Parts: sequence; structure tokens; C-alpha cells
Amino acid sequence: MEEIGRNIIRLESVDSTNNYTANHARLGELRHGAVIMAVEQTGGRGQMGTQWNSESGKNLTFSVLLERVNLSVERQFILTKIVSLSLVALLEHFGIDARIKWPNDIYVDDLKIAGVLIENSLQGNAIKRSIIGIGLNVNQSDFGALKATSFALVKKRDFAIDDLLFSFIARFNEIANRDTAILDADYLNKLYWLNESRSFEDASGRFVGEIKGVNESGALLVQKDAAVQSFQLKEIVFIG
Ligand code: BTN
Repeated sequence: MEEIGRNIIRLESVDSTNNYTANHARLGELRHGAVIMAVEQTGGRGQMGTQWNSESGKNLTFSVLLERVNLSVERQFILTKIVSLSLVALLEHFGIDARIKWPNDIYVDDLKIAGVLIENSLQGNAIKRSIIGIGLNVNQSDFGALKATSFALVKKRDFAIDDLLFSFIARFNEIANRDTAILDADYLNKLYWLNESRSFEDASGRFVGEIKGVNESGALLVQKDAAVQSFQLKEIVFIG
């Protein structure tokens, strides 16, 4: 993949960096690899229609525009792997051990430190454009009732937000060019709860099972009773 981060736009305040990126990409005003970060988002969006609230000036909230990704819809999960592994590598670089809670939440112990919202536009069966939105908790120390943490809470010091952005870009540019087989292995290796006996809930209720991996389309593979079943995003809840 062509490099990202040659062009960085910094906004003081915007509704959502994903919205901004989508609107300006549509108008032809942004090129592949553009990175749009905001000090404050007034309408930050999370997965599955949720809100992403982030204290103004405290965290890293940004989007990356990928054009001509050249991936079929069936293989789109590769992007999820690249982004999550880049975040884990960034955290590792600053001495924080993190795991990927399927599909792409980043966890330190049992607390969320980063979230990812990938929005693809398709042309036929191919991904034409992908907007990768990332919210990384950096210097915020109070998350109310949320089970969340930040760089500052883990390391007991503040971090320069720009350093983390540059570090993410460097890691992404390296990881995006890894072979798919390596990405698959690295993703599995960092998967939260892999091979652990845990509680989940699906349409038929609670059960104890073990995560065994993901399939090519990104569905979660969980051993339930004697069989391994695949689950899409809304079909399974992690209980504990
Ligand atoms: C989630 O875990 O629910 C995904 C959160 C994604 C948040 C980021 S912040 C930058 C970008 N702009 C948005 O509106 N959302 C993403």
C-alpha cells in the first residue's frame, strides 16, 4: 500500500474527523494517505451507531483516508488487522502491552484504550475508498462509568499527542506492507481471550466457550460445546 501521513491536517474542532474526511474526499480535496486530526470532536462516532466522547485536547482523534485500496469486499478484514496491529505496536513502543478485542478494540488488561471505526465505500465488489477513524485515549484520566483507560493512567505521566500520531503513521506504513500470512499470525497472537475459557452470550443465551481465531471474512470463531461456530459483530457479546 502507498504510504500514509505525507499530508496531515489539524482541525481545532469538527463534528467527526470521519465525516470531514468523507466529505472532503468526495469533493476530490484529499489524496490517499491524508491524515485528519482534531483537537475536539463535537459529534464523534463509535461502532454500531454509538457516540465517541473524548475530552477536548486530551486524546488523539483522527482519520486516515485510503484510496484505491485494491481489496475485494471478502478480504476487507485485512484492513482491520493492519490498523489494530499498528495500534498495538504503537502502544508497545511506549511500553504498554495491549491486546485486540475482536474485531478492533484495543485493550490494556480489561480496559479499552483505543477504538476504531472503519468506513468503506464500495465500487462493485471492490473497496474504492476506506476511512479509518481512530480514537486513542491519551491524557484523559476520568472515564466515568466506562471501562476505559489511557496512556496517562497506565504510565502515570502525560504524553505529547503529536508524538503518538507520528508513531502510529510509521507503524502503519511498515505493517501495511507485511504479507497477509504474517498479518494473520500477528493478529491471532494479540487476540484478547484467545484459547481462554470465557463467558459469552449469543441469540440462544449465555454459554462458556473459547475463542479459536477469525475466518477470512473476519467472523469470530468460538468453540461452543463440541463445535466451532462463527459469529458476526452483532451476534456475540463478551461477558467475562
Ligand atoms: C469505537 O470503539 O466505537 C470506535 C471509536 C472510533 C472513534 C474515532 S475518533 C476519530 C474518528 N472520528 C469519529 O467520529 N470516530 C472515529
